[in-house]
Amino acid sequence: DARTAQAAVSTGRLPADRAVRAALARVHRRFQADRGGRVADYIPVLAEADPELFGIALAHVGGSVHAVGDADHLFSIQSVSKAFVFALVDQELGHHAVRRRVGVNSTGLPFNSVLAVELNHGSPMNPMVNAGALATTALAPGGSAEERWEFVRRGLSRFAGRELALDERVYASETATNQRNESIARLLDSYGALARDPVATTDLYTRQCSLAVCVRDLAVMGATLANGGVNPLTGERVVDAEVCRDTLAALATAGLYERSGDWLYEVGMPGKSGVSGGIVTVAPGKGSIAVFSPRLDGAGNSVRGQRVTHYLSGALGLNLF
Ligand code: DON
Repeated sequence: DARTAQAAVSTGRLPADRAVRAALARVHRRFQADRGGRVADYIPVLAEADPELFGIALAHVGGSVHAVGDADHLFSIQSVSKAFVFALVDQELGHHAVRRRVGVNSTGLPFNSVLAVELNHGSPMNPMVNAGALATTALAPGGSAEERWEFVRRGLSRFAGRELALDERVYASETATNQRNESIARLLDSYGALARDPVATTDLYTRQCSLAVCVRDLAVMGATLANGGVNPLTGERVVDAEVCRDTLAALATAGLYERSGDWLYEVGMPGKSGVSGGIVTVAPGKGSIAVFSPRLDGAGNSVRGQRVTHYLSGALGLNLF
């Protein structure tokens, strides 16, 4: 691994496909028995997830995708969607407008904090916490709820390179237990910080979180950000290169919530986690690593996902610093 990593650092590219495949097989074996963390249960249907599920995928900006373990298992994208919806909205509104209307600073508080909104005089703070994600989703263009949903669903599908669909069970379960997000949306609205109706915005946000993906999809989505906005599988330009820069900056600041500093210190790349157990990590100009493993730490980040990404960052020489 040390030689592979050194070669990658000195060439500025990902190691050859064979070395990548060997590293994935090794890391999957190494962390197979890792049982750290607990499956999320505040959304009832998520508590039913098999905690042993474990998939890893790596997508190269050149278009190859390598995967190991439960790489085709579908799960709801949850907060990983926030990165890509932010990119789509940034593409529509531009660098300055999204900063003004959402913000790009960390809260240092949990992802669903109400206090963070209050402490910051109604600012949504950043697009990766729920308040900022709600404020971002409220900016999705479209003349009707259906059009705005298609903007989000189609946009995330273009990042993934295939048509993504709603997981109806997750959507129903989350809708039935959504008081907190609806409260955050109403609080933002009371400050004039939400572009649309709080109930409709919470519904659209809940739909985006309920899109079903597999870990391969997440890797391709991340590789599109690594590739300056062009999907490496389909060749389609999804967003501009400037939008990828904005999005990766926001991820570096807040992609793993109050643990984002620890993450950057250990892994050295922007990443985004979700409560169903996905984490996507972007190596700009090179590719993306995605891990799916449902057991989480106290901040809502997959424990095994973090450990695997840390290992691969070192083994493949991906740390940006
Ligand atoms: O809004 C929520 O609480 C969930 N739909 C998403 C939260 C989430 O994924 C936080 N991530 N680690």
